[in-house]
Amino acid sequence: MQNFISFHDVDDLDFLVKSALEIKKNPYANSTLGINKTIGLLFLNPSLRTRLSTQKAAQNLGMNVITFNLNNEGWAIEVNEGIVMDGTSSEHIKEAAAVIGQYCDVIGLRSFPGLTDREYDYADTIINKFVQYAGRPILSLESAILHPLQSLTDVITVEELKTKSRPKVVLSWAPHTRALPQAVPNSFSEWMSKAEVDFVITHPKGYELSNEFTQGVKIEYDQDKAFEGADFIYAKNWSSFREYGKILTKDPAWMITEQKMALTDSAKFMHCLPVRRNVVVADEVLDSENSIVIHQAGNREFAAQAVLTEMLKGM
Ligand code: CP
Repeated sequence: MQNFISFHDVDDLDFLVKSALEIKKNPYANSTLGINKTIGLLFLNPSLRTRLSTQKAAQNLGMNVITFNLNNEGWAIEVNEGIVMDGTSSEHIKEAAAVIGQYCDVIGLRSFPGLTDREYDYADTIINKFVQYAGRPILSLESAILHPLQSLTDVITVEELKTKSRPKVVLSWAPHTRALPQAVPNSFSEWMSKAEVDFVITHPKGYELSNEFTQGVKIEYDQDKAFEGADFIYAKNWSSFREYGKILTKDPAWMITEQKMALTDSAKFMHCLPVRRNVVVADEVLDSENSIVIHQAGNREFAAQAVLTEMLKGM
């Protein structure tokens, strides 16, 4: 595997999922694969799970890990080409990416969208410039539009905990106080539509995701109807793609409650975290036996390790 920035970088999803579940049984089985290899984990935005799980995964493989909060510890980065750099930016991404590539064998990068300019965000400029200039494999730690490590984790978690050969998986929009990116639902839709599941998305009108990631996916605007017979409920807020970055509603009726979960077939509750209690999901659901959010977060380590294993094997 060269880069891991979207579903399209994966040759064989089934193999990758099985590999992660094997790694989970013995995370140290390949503890020398990454000896004398360095991964740089670069963050332009905050992270708890991605940062710690990817560091742990790399260390399980014997890699050296450099973590760098590029946004506030490095020089201000310019991404536009051919520009006169007489403003606030001190370093061009051309040099920054290439220099980091001198120190690292793999580069992990997190870069959120601005949510004001759809064309710019959906060009996924920062991560694509790193692919262009770093000269090293790039591992997305969540880009402006995709979060593939999260979605691989989610596929692994459904595969691990399903009780039917083809479970019903529902991605439900839920309210939030702030405008959030579409990266998690875009990726979740892209990955789940390739998995052995019946996949449905439910959201209020106006929250349709980009067609690029939802082609062929069933959209159900009635949340109660979507929940009927579900085996997994995956809650997530996102801002509007059409009216780009806007919050169109904060309707609390879309919060995931015990009453809504009662419509399902004893569904497991999933969320990528962090989650706002009693805004996105009621305490009673998040604290219930059917909530698998901690288990899901635990699987982040094995998803990252499965991906890093493939990258290291190719070096
Ligand atoms: N789910 C997820 O990516 O969590 P962090 O933002 O804490 O890394």
